[in-house]
Amino acid sequence: MKKLIIINGPNLNLLGKREPEIYGSETFEDYLNSIKSKFDKVSIDYFQSNIEGELIDKIQEVGFSYDGIVLNAAAYTHTSVGIGDVVKAITTPVVEVHISNTFSREDFRHQSYISPNAKGVILGFGLQSYELAVESFL
Ligand code: DQA
Repeated sequence: MKKLIIINGPNLNLLGKREPEIYGSETFEDYLNSIKSKFDKVSIDYFQSNIEGELIDKIQEVGFSYDGIVLNAAAYTHTSVGIGDVVKAITTPVVEVHISNTFSREDFRHQSYISPNAKGVILGFGLQSYELAVESFL
């Protein structure tokens, strides 16, 4: 059985209440349950943190043994050399996801420290971006 993990960065614990016109009104926990039952032949772990170093620790921990990482580093995508470096350092492939189309938003969201070392990038499909990313590993 393939082993995947979804890793969410800062403020994504607020999904459902946070700017619903951009991020939708579903909580990530509800969405995660639906994705887990849809892909019942894969194991999908989940980790969320608002803290940059905790995200790096988790990526190091899983990044040499898991089959895939679905990473939404949220605001750290645009600022974190450290997360960019760890994505480069590990052997597990990373698919970068974003709920919103970051290219249709402010200029500072057009920069990603993750994309150069990601296997691919999926953005702008709402929460569906995550299932497209999971599917890409199957
Ligand atoms: C986001 C886009 C980022 O620019 C933003 O900082 C987020 C969420 C997205 O999923 O659309 O927090 O990664």
